[in-house]
Amino acid sequence: MKGVILETAGCKDFFREEDILALQPDVTAAHAMLAAKQGPGSEYLGWLDLPDAAMAQLPEIRKVAEGIQATSDALVVIGIGGSYLGSRAGIEALAHSFSNFQGNAAKVIFAGHNLSSSYHADLLDVLQDMDFSINIISKSGKTTEPAIAFRIIRDLLERKYGREGARKRIYATTDPHKGVLRALAESEEYTTFPIPEDIGGRYSVLTAVGLLPMAVAGLDIEALLAGAIQAQGDLQNPDLSVNSCYRYAAARNILYRQGKAVELLVCYQPELQYFCEWWKQLFGESEGKEGKGLFPAAAVFSTDLHSLGQFIQEGAKLLFETVIKVIKPRRDLLIPHELEDADQLNYLAGKGMDFVNDCAFRGTLKAHTEEGKVPNLVLTMDSLDAWNLGYLFYFMEKACAVSGTLLGVNPYDQPGVEAYKKNMSILLKGSAPPAGKDL
Ligand code: PA5
Repeated sequence: MKGVILETAGCKDFFREEDILALQPDVTAAHAMLAAKQGPGSEYLGWLDLPDAAMAQLPEIRKVAEGIQATSDALVVIGIGGSYLGSRAGIEALAHSFSNFQGNAAKVIFAGHNLSSSYHADLLDVLQDMDFSINIISKSGKTTEPAIAFRIIRDLLERKYGREGARKRIYATTDPHKGVLRALAESEEYTTFPIPEDIGGRYSVLTAVGLLPMAVAGLDIEALLAGAIQAQGDLQNPDLSVNSCYRYAAARNILYRQGKAVELLVCYQPELQYFCEWWKQLFGESEGKEGKGLFPAAAVFSTDLHSLGQFIQEGAKLLFETVIKVIKPRRDLLIPHELEDADQLNYLAGKGMDFVNDCAFRGTLKAHTEEGKVPNLVLTMDSLDAWNLGYLFYFMEKACAVSGTLLGVNPYDQPGVEAYKKNMSILLKGSAPPAGKDL
């Protein structure tokens, strides 16, 4: 099996195949609108054909990544929202789980995705003794969180390498023409990568926004794009009986209309935790507007079965689960035999640890659907490698576009995000400068 397949058996008490197929006219209309590049937000549809175009940029991205690896122990990626979640999702999913303690590849460290002074002060401690470079990523070039982190970390970089040396270690990924960051990058002659104007932050993982940090972390970005290109081809057919991506959009729309207000994205690999974070932004910002939308939440099982499991099984019936099921783990471990069998686990000796994880998946699916009456969608993929992850990124982007259209919202704007920024800006402009000791 290649790609992502949707199974709906865990929703049999909530809808039938006919209910999905009844949405065909709406889905066909949404599909036609995308293909014709029309509809609300149509100026942000660059992601649709992006994987092909991004292939052409690979040599340059790879060359810069190799340069960073040669001169730096760490790359500090400064960005927030769509400007960091995609690369973090990719690196957490595909790199060694303990890569900060293992291997010689440059470490990728994230900053500017929060306003915690402790986090950034601790980061400066670590960077002090490292050779590092900076990738500042901001489409608008004016977002407060990364802008402040950039100023602070650039200050350290300049103290370490001098202004001239620091310039050669700063890589700016931003709008091709406008914004404060574009102007600064040009005046300081930083190496820059453009974020195409027709691609919004949460759809930018397959541009240099996601690809440069992933390449520095040693990931196979060519395979990632190849998977996305395959998805682009596979998901062209609007027929709901064959297009898993559109079936997913239709199924979540049906469940939403039945009063399921929360979608819980579940994975059984902690490596996918940041993929879930990326997905939360994609769907949350795309659909949560005009008083509509599913609340996107996420959980890692079996970890969270020991915290959220009780609620899911027996609590208020407000959610459905979408489970990402990976058939083959990146690595497996055999459970050893022990002569004394003090822990009484010899019945599992010789089995893989992933077999136990799979039994957790199957047991939970049965418990949540049959006893808990919680609808479950299952998205199955062969393995968690670069190709499949690229496929999954594209699959979710297209599902989100169609789902938002079915909901009747513009999936590409995020007007509500401005409210906190406006209030924060008033407070900041009216305040005296803080006296941070460590600064
Ligand atoms: O999806 C979006 O466009 C936003 O959530 C952005 O990703 C986020 O606000 C960061 O913006 P910027 O890249 O302009 O700093």
